[in-house]
Amino acid sequence: MGKVDDIVIVGVGAMGKGIAQVCLLAGYNVTLMDIEAKIIENAISYIEKGLNKLEKKGKLPEEMKSADILAKMKKTTNLIEAVQDADFVIEAIIEKLDAKRKVCSDIIDNSPDHCIFASNTSSIRITDIAEGCGKPENVIGMHFFNPAPLMRLIEIIAGEKSSKKAMNIGVEVGESLPCLRGDRYVPRVLKDNPGFIVNRVLAPGRIYSDYIYDLADEKGIPWEQVDADISDPAAPMSTLVLADFVGRDVSLHTAEYYRETLSSDFKPGKVLKRQVVEGKLGKKTGQGFYNWSKGRPEPDLSKKAGIVNQLVFKAIQANEGCRILEEGVCKSWKVIDEAILAGMNFPGPMKSATKNYRQMAELLEEYSEKLGKSYLKPVELLKSGKFIDME
Ligand SMILES: NC(=O)c1ccc[n+]([C@@H]2O[C@H](COP(=O)([O-])OP(=O)(O)OC[C@H]3O[C@@H](n4cnc5c(N)ncnc54)[C@H](O)[C@@H]3O)[C@@H](O)[C@H]2O)c1
Repeated sequence: MGKVDDIVIVGVGAMGKGIAQVCLLAGYNVTLMDIEAKIIENAISYIEKGLNKLEKKGKLPEEMKSADILAKMKKTTNLIEAVQDADFVIEAIIEKLDAKRKVCSDIIDNSPDHCIFASNTSSIRITDIAEGCGKPENVIGMHFFNPAPLMRLIEIIAGEKSSKKAMNIGVEVGESLPCLRGDRYVPRVLKDNPGFIVNRVLAPGRIYSDYIYDLADEKGIPWEQVDADISDPAAPMSTLVLADFVGRDVSLHTAEYYRETLSSDFKPGKVLKRQVVEGKLGKKTGQGFYNWSKGRPEPDLSKKAGIVNQLVFKAIQANEGCRILEEGVCKSWKVIDEAILAGMNFPGPMKSATKNYRQMAELLEEYSEKLGKSYLKPVELLKSGKFIDME
């Protein structure tokens, strides 16, 4: 296995700065590279603050001092210079294929032969990013969750040409990165596919929630009551507050992405489209489902609308879990549950499906008819319960 000492982070915005911080904490020499000098300075001050806080709390790895860790950090706006001696590069630049492909190709051409290029893309195929570069076998996906220092999951994704060695090094580096909330979970995504594991399994739930929003809108049911129906009482933020927080435009964009890559059944609902047209994007425009002008809304969730069947959400997730097992994205239902827990902090659907799969499959037959969405029909592995053997 190639030894990794020098890591370069390309793009140190929201994601890159957190990734750089955990790489430093793991003891690597880390170079911060961005096209914007100001963004590098912001990232450095974020990292310094984070490390100093950990030092004060006595939470730095044994014998380590914040100043020694920071001494291993370099910065540059010059990509070619940055990667000259790199063993491993993690890219977290804007989510645009052309930009990522160019950066990938420049890095592969200007770094040592053994250097691995890992993309933190959340939606672009790794195979597409690697296309045209000199060593596609050295290119993998490394999908962190936000914020990287706190979220335990890192998905390591194989493009069509990624070598086993590159995947192994990716997993090894991922597992070496400390996480402030416990042990890292670093599963291999064996097939390049939209959403990888976690986002893919959660994706089709939006087909049902869009149906609920449109139904509530038709019936004139207040959003608070829908929120009371749809939210997990244990979650730190209710579902509709979270939707506003993320941004309705982001939701529309994601729905369109899955519509193009998975099925036309992901066509966005009427409410979602209207919210975006009217600029009711949520927190960022002051109005979404809720009004944000006085800060984060605190909806009264004491009254339910009674229009949501929570088991349908779980059944849809379990079905998508079975679908990715059928596709060979991963080999075991336990990986799906572990990944969801590590990336989202809530339990995955698969364990409960091992007991309820018949009921789930019946429910999905009923709801796929009711919603007119054939994508929600139960797949063979769920109907037969055969996924249970794939531990
Ligand atoms: N934000 C999230 O929650 C999240 C989660 C997982 C993955 N991602 C993915 O991580 C990547 C970065 O997302 P972000 O939210 O940190 O974005 P961001 O806009 O905060 O940061 C992107 C940075 O890349 C820099 N950049 C742009 N082009 C560059 C280039 N050619 N070379 C070097 N630097 C360049 C920009 O100056 C900016 O600082 C995206 O691919 C995104 O899909 C984001």
